[in-house]
Amino acid sequence: MASPLPSFAIRLLILSTTCFLPLLVRGKQGFSIDLIHRDSPKSPLSVPDSTPPSRLKAAADRSFIRASYFLYSIQNIPSSLSSATNNLNSEIRPDSFEYLMRIYVGSPPEPFLAIADTGSDLIWIQCKPCKYCFNQTNPDNFDPQASSTYKKITCDADICLALSGNSCDSNHECAYNYNYAGGFSVNGSLASETLSLDSTGGRLVPIPSIMFGCTHYSKGTFVDNGAGLVGLGGGRLSLIQQLGSAIESKFSYCLPSFDIDSATSRLHFGSNAVVHGYNSVTTPLIPGFPDTFYFLSLDRISVEGQGSVRVSTTMPDAVNQGNIIIDSGTTLTLIDEDTLKSVEKKVASSVSFPRVVDPIKVFGLCFNVSGAGDDAKFPAITFEFSGGAPVVLPRANSFFEVDNSTMCLGFVSSKGFGVNIFGNIAQQNFHIGYDLRSMELTIAPADCANL
Ligand SMILES: *[C@@H]1O[C@H](CO)[C@@H](O)[C@H](O)[C@H]1NC(C)=O
Ligand SMILES: *[C@@H]1O[C@H](CO)[C@@H](O)[C@H](O)[C@H]1NC(C)=O
Ligand SMILES: *[C@@H]1O[C@H](CO)[C@@H](O)[C@H](O)[C@H]1NC(C)=O
Ligand SMILES: *[C@@H]1O[C@H](CO)[C@@H](O)[C@H](O)[C@H]1NC(C)=O
Repeated sequence: MASPLPSFAIRLLILSTTCFLPLLVRGKQGFSIDLIHRDSPKSPLSVPDSTPPSRLKAAADRSFIRASYFLYSIQNIPSSLSSATNNLNSEIRPDSFEYLMRIYVGSPPEPFLAIADTGSDLIWIQCKPCKYCFNQTNPDNFDPQASSTYKKITCDADICLALSGNSCDSNHECAYNYNYAGGFSVNGSLASETLSLDSTGGRLVPIPSIMFGCTHYSKGTFVDNGAGLVGLGGGRLSLIQQLGSAIESKFSYCLPSFDIDSATSRLHFGSNAVVHGYNSVTTPLIPGFPDTFYFLSLDRISVEGQGSVRVSTTMPDAVNQGNIIIDSGTTLTLIDEDTLKSVEKKVASSVSFPRVVDPIKVFGLCFNVSGAGDDAKFPAITFEFSGGAPVVLPRANSFFEVDNSTMCLGFVSSKGFGVNIFGNIAQQNFHIGYDLRSMELTIAPADCANL
């Protein structure tokens, strides 16, 4: 049910309003880049002696940190960022992310490894001169003076006003100051620069005039070995919105199973991000606050052979009509307590294995599957999103083997956060397309290791 593409003439009209159009549409229009999971062998963050249960436990901890970040962002208007931080009990730490991507900044292009974050907008990297920066092993901080395409942005520029926490520095340049709980902060200047992405076809795709934050001060370690962050959210300063019509406001990703170490996740743009498949389903992306987050409306969760449960909760803030955020940077799926209890009851009555307590103390419903191996029978769980969009989760997306003999239902309660999240394990092996023009999300089952 993918929406038809606009006719070529209309597309040309829309695209021609952007100056960098020729670079992207010459030849093939779409492009794709690799996403690097933090635990994969390609990531500098992977811990060599970690085990699947220890990685899952660490990812669960990060999921809860991220849930508190979402809650905090929904409840607080950006201008009160620093004062509201003081009232917050749970720590919001920017190191709760799952995927990295490589970006090339400036002319000539310098490579950097950055967090790929669907939960924020601003793109930023550490720049020279850096009064205080976290150590990044490779490469050195970006040097604006060594790039021929770096341009300063004055604080009366329209785009400066779109930046939350903006101010005017002594040189009349647009400055930002982001504070996070736990004493983390970054500040620097908004600038315009050529950003290039390494298309999997083997060519560097240059995108001129991208607004990004040149961080000159960072307090706290954000990313060991990383250099910054690429915001892939829905707000105006995100990479997606800045690419805008050049990618027809479309991006998608396909995340293979965690278990396949060598498999590569991909992030697609433009025509590459059109999700096909007769069994694809489409659900509205629901406008909410902040516009950074991708809100969906989840109607029901059904358990094979046991009927379904209506998902009643709404987001904490009344302006938000959606009741769940889809996020690639959160590993677990968080569901409100009442709905989760009903789902667990239905699952418990359809599984015949004895109940056991979760050895990693994350999940509420676990079974002793000792000796049963892959023959263990578990019901299919279906997330029914609004607009008639049932997503039938493969077993690996909804039941996790936390150790050799224990299988758990892989959803956790959002109690205490009030924010439901459709996490990245639930999204594995689906091609998930975001169309920010038609405000639709299209999901189709896919073998992501081979897409
Ligand atoms: C970075 O590394 C240097 C040398 O190892 C050390 O002296 C410095 O304190 C480190 N800085 C931070 C912010 O960790
Ligand atoms: C950046 O943060 C540091 C530490 O909080 C502060 O001393 C400095 O004034 C800030 N700079 C700007 C431009 O906000
Ligand atoms: C799981 O079942 C096996 C075989 O029945 C038993 O030996 C083992 O103790 C059980 N494990 C737990 C945690 O109950
Ligand atoms: C799981 O089973 C494998 C093979 O049977 C064994 O090598 C491994 O030690 C077991 N792991 C745990 C945590 O029991």
